[in-house]
Amino acid sequence: MKMKLRILALVALLFATAAIADEDLPQTCSWTSIEKDPSLKEMIYDVGDGPKPFQAYVEPPLESFYKGDPPSKTRVVPKFNGLAGKFVNMSNKNLNFYWESAVGGAVHLMRHYKPFSTGGTGTFPGHRFFFSPDNDPDTRVKEFVVGEYPQNYYVYDPYFVEGDPVQTEKNLKANLNKKERKQYDKWRKTLLFNEQYLNFTGRSYLANYLDDGPRKAPSHFMWPADYFGQEHWVVTKETHFDRLPPSDDLDPILITGTKRVLKDGDPRILQEYRVKDEPYMNMTLKVLSVIPRVFEIQNFLSPTEIDHILDLAGGIELHESTTGDVGTDRGSDRTKGLERKTKTRTSKNSWVPREKSPIIDAIYRRAADLTRIDEALLRSRDKDEHPEVPTKRKVCEELQLVHYGPEQEYTAHHDFGHTHIDDNLAGARFATILFYLNEGMEGGHTSFPRYVNGESFHELAVKPEAGKAVLFYSQLPDGNMDDFSQHAAKPIIEGEKWLINLWIWDPVKDTEDE
Ligand SMILES: *[C@@H]1O[C@H](CO)[C@@H](O)[C@H](O)[C@H]1NC(C)=O
Ligand SMILES: *[C@@H]1O[C@H](CO)[C@@H](O)[C@H](O)[C@H]1NC(C)=O
Ligand SMILES: *[C@@H]1O[C@H](CO)[C@@H](O)[C@H](O)[C@H]1NC(C)=O
Repeated sequence: MKMKLRILALVALLFATAAIADEDLPQTCSWTSIEKDPSLKEMIYDVGDGPKPFQAYVEPPLESFYKGDPPSKTRVVPKFNGLAGKFVNMSNKNLNFYWESAVGGAVHLMRHYKPFSTGGTGTFPGHRFFFSPDNDPDTRVKEFVVGEYPQNYYVYDPYFVEGDPVQTEKNLKANLNKKERKQYDKWRKTLLFNEQYLNFTGRSYLANYLDDGPRKAPSHFMWPADYFGQEHWVVTKETHFDRLPPSDDLDPILITGTKRVLKDGDPRILQEYRVKDEPYMNMTLKVLSVIPRVFEIQNFLSPTEIDHILDLAGGIELHESTTGDVGTDRGSDRTKGLERKTKTRTSKNSWVPREKSPIIDAIYRRAADLTRIDEALLRSRDKDEHPEVPTKRKVCEELQLVHYGPEQEYTAHHDFGHTHIDDNLAGARFATILFYLNEGMEGGHTSFPRYVNGESFHELAVKPEAGKAVLFYSQLPDGNMDDFSQHAAKPIIEGEKWLINLWIWDPVKDTEDE
């Protein structure tokens, strides 16, 4: 009798677990753990107001990057020695920031700095930069020669006197008003935090120290990248289009907010033009690099979807791409109007909004499933949709359609920018997804020249293949920026390259769409 009861209880328990597993935790991907990232370690820091804990990202040991025996226990130093330079203006003067080229000493205006602002650029050891006052371009108030990684910080502070806190304080009192002093002190905290973070992790802290502490850890999920070749999978109901719907069905999407939510049981948009009898599509993410975290996803786009995008491209005017090297302190690649004279980026591009067609919308939804971010965050939202997100802004940009012709390239750069010291939201690009639309060109690889490994000093070169997607993160699990996410589009030797970029932000994009 007792035995029977026990069996009954066991059966009931089994049913209960099965019910939970089916309804509340559907197995839609290979990794659902919400445990903290194992690379996060507690660090105790003090920026002048007492010791505090912080969960800092510490790089895992190289041996763990290989499933089997590692080829070596030490990192191979990459041939490419670039790094993210972070240039800080700790004065109350409006400055211009110049790069001085080694050949002929020609100077290039990089950007205008507002007081207490910062900017960044991919740079190399030995590169020379200087600050000049806005109204006095011939005077160089501060010159920098860039050092080796991890010397990422270059600071102009006209008030600080080494080893003399009394004189420093006098200078600050004499020159800065109350508001300026507050900004100055926040920069000091950032620099103090950076020293301790660098000491603990071996990396520079490229984010800012904010009013309430270090920049927050990403709110979005991050796929782990433990070793080369590791695979994750995730399913999506946004299956491939395999026939082009008639053009009448491809009009822009006009409904907004919760009206766009698709319930689990609902058919997807234009379901009848998608692969038959396939209720879902299973996407595999394969780890190409552990530091930075880079994944490849084969067959993300179908040939029909690619045709549709290229068809749209035919009716879109492409513009010369500009980089953010001349502009304000926003410091990303979106600056328009002023163009740097050096050839950093030579491609042409245009922006495609999610609402452009139901197929573009489906690509956004599939990308949301891939990154495990709610699709609602990738569009404008109604009031009650994600009230926890600090502003109504969406967390992504419009798709960027890019074309590279022969000899065109985009030299190594970072996708993240730097925010003003007063910006407590500190929104920055979090992840980038590239979708290749064609293949067969010579050259044109996507390169990660600083990927960490134990075998080669060459770059990680990802070959464009039609339909393939590449996902990488610009942030680390602790909210810092990943200097190693630096990447390039290698020059096209023969043929042409078409791709689209999707940038996802954390927490939110700083301004609405251009
Ligand atoms: C530095 O900051 C001050 C005040 O915040 C500003 O007036 C000045 O232009 C800035 N200089 C640079 C180079 O950004
Ligand atoms: C760096 O770390 C060492 C050892 O943990 C410690 O003694 C030292 O004070 C640290 N320096 C800074 C600037 O945090
Ligand atoms: C997705 O594919 C993987 C193999 O790549 C497999 O292990 C997994 O069970 C599949 N998931 C579903 C739901 O089909």
